[in-house]
Amino acid sequence: MKAARVHGFGQPPVIEALAEPEPRAGRTLVRMEAATVGHIDRTVWGGRFLQHPPFPYTPGVEAAGVVVAGDRHAVGQRVWVRGSGLGTLFDGTWCELIDAPDESIGLLPDAVPATLGSAFFSPCTSAWVALHEVARLRAGERVLVSGASGAVGSLAVQLALDAGAHVTALVSSAAKLQLPAAAELRVLGDDPCAALAGVAADLLVDTVGGAVLAAALPCVQAGGRAVLVGYTAGHALSLDLAHFLQRDVALLPLNMFRREAAGRAAAPELLARLADGRLHLAVESFGLGDAASALAWIAQRGHRGRAVLVPAR
Ligand SMILES: NC(=O)c1ccc[n+]([C@@H]2O[C@H](COP(=O)([O-])OP(=O)(O)OC[C@H]3O[C@@H](n4cnc5c(N)ncnc54)[C@H](OP(=O)(O)O)[C@@H]3O)[C@@H](O)[C@H]2O)c1
Repeated sequence: MKAARVHGFGQPPVIEALAEPEPRAGRTLVRMEAATVGHIDRTVWGGRFLQHPPFPYTPGVEAAGVVVAGDRHAVGQRVWVRGSGLGTLFDGTWCELIDAPDESIGLLPDAVPATLGSAFFSPCTSAWVALHEVARLRAGERVLVSGASGAVGSLAVQLALDAGAHVTALVSSAAKLQLPAAAELRVLGDDPCAALAGVAADLLVDTVGGAVLAAALPCVQAGGRAVLVGYTAGHALSLDLAHFLQRDVALLPLNMFRREAAGRAAAPELLARLADGRLHLAVESFGLGDAASALAWIAQRGHRGRAVLVPAR
């Protein structure tokens, strides 16, 4: 079988022929139909994750496909695959035949294409858990979402509207946006504070960090909360403690590794919403041999949606 292999941190993946994995206890063999190229894969590939599989390795934390062997799931079952060490501790999903731990697998409804089934987990469950588990969103609240053009941000906008919130979406550019019209749009210019003039929120979902977080945090009203998801715009946040204590805004980190179980519990409902069109996530497909382009694409400002690799037919 063919697999995209990495021989050193940051080196372009190359296609190699490997022996097909044998069926074994606790594992399900999945014929890959789509494999996500996500930020976590870039982080592992760049040597910035806590752990990585021994070199050379096959990256890929998520995928979707069809079961070809295993004890727990019927042969022919459509499934999504995620985590449990795939692409972080041992070889992952960027290959034609995935040797997946049984616990990494979930069932994929027929109405959800493999490309979307591969890509949905991280952005959809992160947005869901941020809103409903971490922030305990209530109907009627005012929600400000930064990085709303991104995968997690756009899902947070959609899910918050669906939960009866009033949503303000903060983006760096209005180009190629696919956000619901019900969200109020604010576009970051040279002065993020000016872009946010007059915005008041009960809840901030920040996917960007840095200067954007610093500008958005004062929009949260006293007694409100802010869920911190990402830090592409900067790793640091400076707080005036006197103001911070007076304003009494709870800073709540999202850690989806620790909240994997909550994400898995929400997955069937999120897949149902993707299937019937209540939720939307754009997916861009690349050939399995073109993983280097996908890794570059997801790092570009202005890209929209998730990247997946698909095998040659
Ligand atoms: N904490 C967790 O458990 C968890 C879970 C999932 C994801 N994450 C993290 O959350 C972040 C967002 O994930 P994603 O999948 O939504 O990523 P994405 O689809 O690549 O979106 C990134 C968003 O950030 C914006 N952005 C990037 N740099 C910016 C800057 N300097 N100033 C303003 N906006 C900027 C982008 O806007 P434009 O490109 O339009 O400029 C885009 O809206 C990532 O860092 C990811 O690693 C964390």
